Amino acid sequence: MREPRSSMTPDSPQQARLIDGRATAARVRAEVARQVAVLAARHGVTPGLAVVLVGDDPASEVYVRNKGKQTREAGMRSFETRLPASTSQHELLAHVARLNADKAVHGILVQLPLPRQIDELAIIDALAPEKDVDGFSIINTGLLAARGSGMIPCTPLGCLLLLKEYVGDLGGQRALVVGRSNLVGKPMIQLLLREHCTVTVAHSRTRDLAEECRRADILIAAIGKPGFIKGDWIRPGATVIDVGINRISEPSSEGSRDRLVGDVDFDAAVRVAGAITPVPGGVGPMTIACLLKNTVTAACAQNRIDPGSLSG
Ligand code: GUN
Repeated sequence: MREPRSSMTPDSPQQARLIDGRATAARVRAEVARQVAVLAARHGVTPGLAVVLVGDDPASEVYVRNKGKQTREAGMRSFETRLPASTSQHELLAHVARLNADKAVHGILVQLPLPRQIDELAIIDALAPEKDVDGFSIINTGLLAARGSGMIPCTPLGCLLLLKEYVGDLGGQRALVVGRSNLVGKPMIQLLLREHCTVTVAHSRTRDLAEECRRADILIAAIGKPGFIKGDWIRPGATVIDVGINRISEPSSEGSRDRLVGDVDFDAAVRVAGAITPVPGGVGPMTIACLLKNTVTAACAQNRIDPGSLSG
């Protein structure tokens, strides 16, 4: 756990500690690379991650390129498939079946969202659960909810690693998760429960969101609405994890320019919170780092290797 932030002089504006997701993600990737080297040297196993991109969504293109690059940098094998936007569900299911059967592939990620003609849930549930490094399949969802085990979705896992590093023991903390998506909100609730937090979930029908936020020691915002959570909703000293990555257009000397912002009004929240993730540079880098971590976990499980035996 990090040292508490130093006290401010009476007239200096309150400034939360910045949660440095880039630094934590770099440490996770370095540990993954070390484990990959041990797996190769002791067991002759090189973890392989297959990423499937259907269509040409520009944001997905960037994510997939970064995933491939970081997979290779960690010493793992990267398998990338790009399929046209017109791909049918039947064709994608056939591709998933080939990856499920491929012994060199330990983890499979089908980039979401998928084109309209494809039923996302049918694809997710066709993944072999032991290769589902996103942790989205019904088996892994059930394992997390009922047993606190299984493959853990990467973004919530990244948030949890940041919380453990910057808060330490989470037991008894009041945690509010804003957003109930299958990708982030729901698995985040389960992870915080596993850590013995008192968990509340807020969503679009929540009656007084500001009041719910003011009660939270830990606030996780995952709604995809730029600057939606206001500074005066934050409990003084709270830890704020902003999962939102929203591209907004702002006026500039050249006309307009794009900027990434989170779901929290950062400039106001940073004066109230005890610690906060910036956007970019907070949760974002943790997602791919946790994907690499999950791929090592998957490779170990498929080769009956205790991941604990890879520790330095
Ligand atoms: N699209 C946006 N985030 C994710 C993710 O975590 N996994 C997959 N498969 N697609 C995504």
